Order: sequence, then C-alpha cells, then structure tokens
Amino acid sequence: MRLAVLKERRPAETRVAATPETVKKFIALGCSVAVEAGAGLASGIPDADYAAAGAELAPDAGAVLKDAAIVLKIRAPLAAGEGAVDELSLIPRGALLLGQLGADEAAAHAYAKAGIDAGAMELLPRITRAQSMDILSSQANLAGYRAVVEAAGAYDRAFPMLMTAAGTISAASVFVMGAGVAGLQAIATARRLGGRVSATDVRPAAKEEIRSLGAAFVGYESEESKQAQTAGGYAKQLSAEFYAEQAKVVAAHIAKQDIVVTTALVQGRRAPTLVTAEMVAAMKPGSVIVDIAADAGGNVALTKPGEMVVTENGVKILGWHNWPGRIAGASSSLFARNLLTLLTTFWDKEAKAPKLPAEDEIVRGVLLTRGGAVVHPSFAPAKAA
Ligand code: NAI
Repeated sequence: MRLAVLKERRPAETRVAATPETVKKFIALGCSVAVEAGAGLASGIPDADYAAAGAELAPDAGAVLKDAAIVLKIRAPLAAGEGAVDELSLIPRGALLLGQLGADEAAAHAYAKAGIDAGAMELLPRITRAQSMDILSSQANLAGYRAVVEAAGAYDRAFPMLMTAAGTISAASVFVMGAGVAGLQAIATARRLGGRVSATDVRPAAKEEIRSLGAAFVGYESEESKQAQTAGGYAKQLSAEFYAEQAKVVAAHIAKQDIVVTTALVQGRRAPTLVTAEMVAAMKPGSVIVDIAADAGGNVALTKPGEMVVTENGVKILGWHNWPGRIAGASSSLFARNLLTLLTTFWDKEAKAPKLPAEDEIVRGVLLTRGGAVVHPSFAPAKAA
C-alpha cells in the first residue's frame, strides 16, 4: 500500500500533511511512503529527515502519486487551471485522499468523477471519539496562540504590568471575540503573557469557559442567545436585532482595548462583522487588532485578507491568511497526527489497508465519495435530484 505526501502548492500554505514521526508509524502499519521533495521545507522539515524515517523522496507530484493508494494533503489538490500542476488528474483512480478539502458540491462531484475516495477532514463530527482526529481543533488552537503572539509583536507596549525603577507600565487590555477553540487558546495565551483579558461569545456555554480561564465575560445576552448553539456545538446565525444589540455592548468596550483578537465564525457562512469602522476609529493609536477570521471574510470591517492595515488613527489590523500556517512546524505536526489517528483507527491490520465502514459516524461524516459516487449526506441528494 503506497502512501503519498504531496508538497502543498496553494498560496500561503506552509504546512505538510505528514512528518517523519507519522511516516515511521505508517511504515510500521505496512505502508510504503513517498514524499515529494521539498514538501516539509516550509515547516522546517528537510527531505533528509523524511528519508531517515524511511520515506522514498520523489522529485515531483507525478512521481510521488504514481501507484498511490492513500494520498495525504493539507488543502485540496489543485485541479486543472488552478496552478502549474493538475494534481487531481495525477491521483490514481481508487485512491483514498484525506485533507482539509474545503468540500462543496462541485468538488465532491469532481472527486467522484475522478474515481477518488475523498475524505474531507473538516467535516469530521465533533464527538469525543473523534477529538484526536479533529484538524479544526488542532489548527484553531495553534492559530489562537499565534494570533496573540503576533499581536504582542505588533504592539509597541508591553502585555504585563511592569514595575520598574523608572516607573510602572500598565498591563495591556486584551479583548477576545469568539471563545471557541481558537478564542479560548487566545485567552489563555494573553493571560500567560500578563494581559488583562476579557472575551465575548454568543453561545451560553462559552461564558463559563471564558470565566474559567480567568477572563471577564463581556457580552449581550437575550432569549435568542440562549438558543445560539447548534446540536453540533457551533454558533447559529442570529437576528440582525441581536447583532445590533451585541454591537452596542461591544463598541463601548472596544474603545478601551489595546489588543482585540477576533475569531468568530458561523459554520457555512461568511464570518460575522463584529468590529465596524466606527469602532476601530474610536480605538487608541497603537492598538492592534488580529483578525483570525480573515480568510472567512473577516470579523473586522476594515480587514484586508492577507495584509496588515494601519488606519488613520494608528490602529494596526492584522488580517494574515492561514493563521495555523504561520506556526507551520507545530501545525503540521498536529495535522499529521490527526490524519495518522484517523487511519490507524480504521486500519485493517491483516490486509494492511484502510477499512472504512460506511455505517460508522466518523466515516459517514468525512467521506465525500466512494467508488466513483458521491456518498456524503450533504452532497449526495443534490446529485440524485
Ligand atoms: P468556530 O470556529 O465555528 O467559531 C468560533 C467561535 O465564534 C465560536 O465559539 C462561536 O460561538 C463564536 N461566534 C460566532 N458568532 C459570534 C458572534 N456574533 N459574536 C461572538 N462570538 C461568535 O467554533 P469552534 O472553535 O470550532 O468551536 C465550536 C464548538 O465546538 C465549541 O463549543 C467547542 O467547544 C466545540 N468543540 C467540540 C469538540 C468535541 O467535542 N470533539 C471539538 C472541538 C470543538
């Protein structure tokens, strides 16, 4: 069973879907592993480390994908016209592809047509059994950490209160918007750095989590927000009235903050705009906003995805792409382990091959296509129609 690891070619993608550690474990499971030359460089992993782990280094995508039965990716393979290499056409029919595929209906049908069994890791059900395979959590956690560290770097004052012989420097006020996986890690990191931290979220459960990390809860609550959480644990889209009330509470608070970290997402939609241009205009010069939601449209009206904006009143807004990719060594390591865990969970030791029972909740959640057909419940009915 040949397992292939491609170099990521999409813009701003610095991660890699396998590490020498996971390569060794796949070999122990009975796989032969091929890694594209240079695949790990942006994550600080030289080719020699993959070779030392037992992988075969292949010079290009075609060579690495030849005869591959399992293909590991961070992001969806490039299709024709998306880049210099049509990776999709090089994946052998019948291969199992796993990665954060950004699955939609068109993609699912393209994988079916190509005869690839595609597993979209971002669709993994968020159940206890699947936690160790959860790429959204592992990557969001590191993004939350990185956001605060970058905020500290861009801020021209200190996070902790410093009492020195020359006088006292007051602690930075840090406000985290959205207290899911990334936000909670941002709170914890900002607290460790010595910031005075507050946070908001719409889900009622988040309030206690914020407080348990030693941050103050700031937010608007109503009858509507009592039902703001879906069965899957995500935030629901709320009414315009709710967002308007939330904005009033937040506006007064933001004006007093030195650092704002925004992480709010609503599954399947553009990120909600939580920080308006007027709110930014009311902030102090030198304040820093980090918008982790930039790639989903941004939580800040002035965010420019992929850029740092400096406003007229001297506020920096960091809207970089791919926050987990800005801490690629750690993100790759966790992403690679998430993939390894999924495959070892569904591994037939005798056949030395993956065995994906169609009725398993995790398999049903992740698998888009199988044997040339779209099988995912979110995309298959449309095909029938
Ligand atoms: P996410 O990335 O979809 O959203 C980030 C946060 O933004 C969420 O906390 C959400 O409530 C918040 N948000 C949305 N609209 C907002 C608004 N207008 N104002 C303020 N905040 C807003 O969420 P994430 O981080 O993926 O986590 C979602 C939930 O899933 C959490 O409850 C988390 O604890 C849970 N979870 C459960 C797991 C498991 O049981 N295996 C694994 C990972 C997460």
